[in-house]
Amino acid sequence: MGSRSSLAPVASALLLLSYLIAGNNGVAAAGSSTSSDGLKLNYYSESCPRAEEIVKEQVKSLYEEHGNTAVSWLRALFHDCTVKSCDASLLLETDAAAGLVSEKSSTRSFGMRNFKYIDAIKTALERACPGTVSCADLLALAARDGAAMLGGPADIPMRTGRRDATESHYGEVESYIPNHNESVSAVLDRFATMGVDAEGVVALLGAHSVGRVHCFNLVARLYPAVDGTIEPAYGAYLRGRCPTADAKEDTRDVAYARNDRVTPMVLDNMYHKNLLKGRGLLLVDQRLATDPRTAPYVRKMAADNTYFHDVFAAALVKMSENGPLTGDQGEVRKDCRFVNK
Ligand code: HEM
Ligand SMILES: *[C@@H]1O[C@H](CO)[C@@H](O)[C@H](O)[C@H]1NC(C)=O
Repeated sequence: MGSRSSLAPVASALLLLSYLIAGNNGVAAAGSSTSSDGLKLNYYSESCPRAEEIVKEQVKSLYEEHGNTAVSWLRALFHDCTVKSCDASLLLETDAAAGLVSEKSSTRSFGMRNFKYIDAIKTALERACPGTVSCADLLALAARDGAAMLGGPADIPMRTGRRDATESHYGEVESYIPNHNESVSAVLDRFATMGVDAEGVVALLGAHSVGRVHCFNLVARLYPAVDGTIEPAYGAYLRGRCPTADAKEDTRDVAYARNDRVTPMVLDNMYHKNLLKGRGLLLVDQRLATDPRTAPYVRKMAADNTYFHDVFAAALVKMSENGPLTGDQGEVRKDCRFVNK
C-alpha cells in the first residue's frame, strides 16, 4: 500500500491532466457515453477493502505462470469498453435458451484468449467478498495491473464502481470494434466517442507492442504482393510466418506473427519505433505513421517512452470509463460467464 499511496498525488494529477487535454471532447461527451458518474477511486474500500489487492495478486501470479495473460487483459478491456460500455458484456457465454450469443464468438474477437483465468480472479474475489466486485471492474483492474506487469505505466489511477450487463451486444461488435484494415478517420471517430483524441489513440494502439496477430488478419497485406509500406525484410519475415495467402482453418488458428520482435512482452515504445521503420503489423497500425493527424505523435512517442506511458495511462482510464453501468443499473455477476439466476 505504501508505494500506492505515495504515488496517489501523481496519479490524480495525471487524471486531471487527462481531462484538461481532452478539452472539447470532454465537454461534447458530458452526456451518457463517457459519463463516469458513480465511478470513484477505491470504490470497494468499505465493501471489499482487499478487492484491488486481490486482483493484483491474481494478475501477478497468472503473469508469472502465463505471461500472455497480462497481454490478454489489455485487449479484453478494449473490446469490452469499446462495444457500448465497460460492462463485462464481453465475458458472457453463448446461452441459446436465453437467446444470448457471446461477443467472444464475433470475428472481431478472433484470437482472444485466457478467459478461463478471468474465472480464477473472480473466484478469489468471491471467496473474500461474495457478490460484491463486478466483472467489469475486475477487467479494468486486471488491465491496469497487466500493463504494470508488462513494464508499462505503474499504478494507473483506475476508478471503480462499474456494474455488469445482463445482455450481450454481439450484434453490434462489428460496428464498434474497428477492423485490421480500418481507415484512420474511422478509428479516430470511434475513439473520439469515448473521449480519446488522436494522441490517445496513438498511445493506446501502442498496446500492439505486446502480443500477436494471426495470419488471418495479415494475409491481405502479404499476397499477392507485399504491401509497399512494409519494410522489405519485415515483409519477408511475415511471409515466412504466414506462408500462404489461403489462411483458412488449417493455418489461421495457429500461425501468427509479432509486431514487436525485439521486446514482444514489454509494453514500450518499440511499437512506435517499428512504425517509423515500416514494421507495423496491421494496416491500421502502419497508417498511424503516415496520417498527418497521428504521425507527429508516433514520432514523439518513438522518441520518448515516458511520454508514451503517460498518454497511454490517461487514455486507458478514459477508455475504461466509457458509459459504465452504475448505481442500480445492471448487476454484479457472481460468475462472469453468466447472468445471475
Ligand atoms: C483501431 C483499433 C484496433 C484494432 C483494429 C485492433 C485490432 C487487433 C487485431 C486484429 C489483433 C490480432 C488478433 C489476432 O489475430 O489474434 C489485435 C491484438 C491485440 N490488440 Fe488490438 N486493435 C485495436 C486497438 C487495441 C487497443 C486500444 C488495445 C488495448 C489498449 C489493443 C490491444 C491488443 C492486444 C494486447 C493484442 C494482442 C492479443 C494477444 O496476443 O492475445 N488493441 N488487435
Ligand atoms: C478488410 O479486410 C476484410 C477481411 O478481413 C475484407 O473483407 C474487407 O473487404 C477489407 N476492407 C477494406 C476496406 O479493404
